[in-house]
Amino acid sequence: MPLLRAQLPADLSVLGRGGSPYDDFGPRSPKTAPAPASLDADGGLTVLTEDGQVAGDVSWRWQQWGPNASSRGPMIGIWLHPDHRGVGLGTRAQAELALLFFRQTTVNRIEAGTDVQNIAEQRALERAGFRREGTLRGAQWRDGNYHDCYLYARLRTDRP
Ligand SMILES: CC(C)(COP(=O)(O)OP(=O)(O)OC[C@H]1O[C@@H](n2cnc3c(N)ncnc32)[C@H](O)[C@@H]1OP(=O)(O)O)[C@@H](O)C(=O)NCCC(=O)NCCS
Repeated sequence: MPLLRAQLPADLSVLGRGGSPYDDFGPRSPKTAPAPASLDADGGLTVLTEDGQVAGDVSWRWQQWGPNASSRGPMIGIWLHPDHRGVGLGTRAQAELALLFFRQTTVNRIEAGTDVQNIAEQRALERAGFRREGTLRGAQWRDGNYHDCYLYARLRTDRP
């Protein structure tokens, strides 16, 4: 069974937020509609366990480093329900998302950012073939402070 699939309305009750110090951005409205699944625009997919349970979601936002379309790339993110963390899903889901982008789009570079203290996400990204490229100082305002983040990227030619 594929680990990632388009979101269904029934998934939304599980696709909450929070349960992590790295996801403390204050009150947010519950999701009321599935994210678009098309890889060509901002969107998201549901992450499933081996036995088909909804475990969380991956999402992406397109951004660009130059004015031309070839300089565009997605910045990805992930959130897993606390019941499904620490069993390898974060690693596999982000690896699968990267392969999906390389197979179904012509993108050359996929980015991800995470807090310098979020060891689980750093390890998951590294095991999914992403490389740490640098520190983004004071990049994220969260829970009363600015936090340093690491920028990660995986290129089409990178191998885990
Ligand atoms: C971060 C997250 C996606 C990682 O996914 P995961 O499925 O829990 O992680 P994995 O099981 O794939 O483990 C990846 C690595 O992190 C390690 N790890 C897992 N949980 C950890 C923890 N709490 N502390 C330190 N290391 C941890 C694992 O041992 C593994 O390392 P290894 O490859 O050296 O053995 C998931 O924990 C999560 O959704 N957390 C809350 C939201 C969040 O932080 N999202 C990312 C924001 S940028």
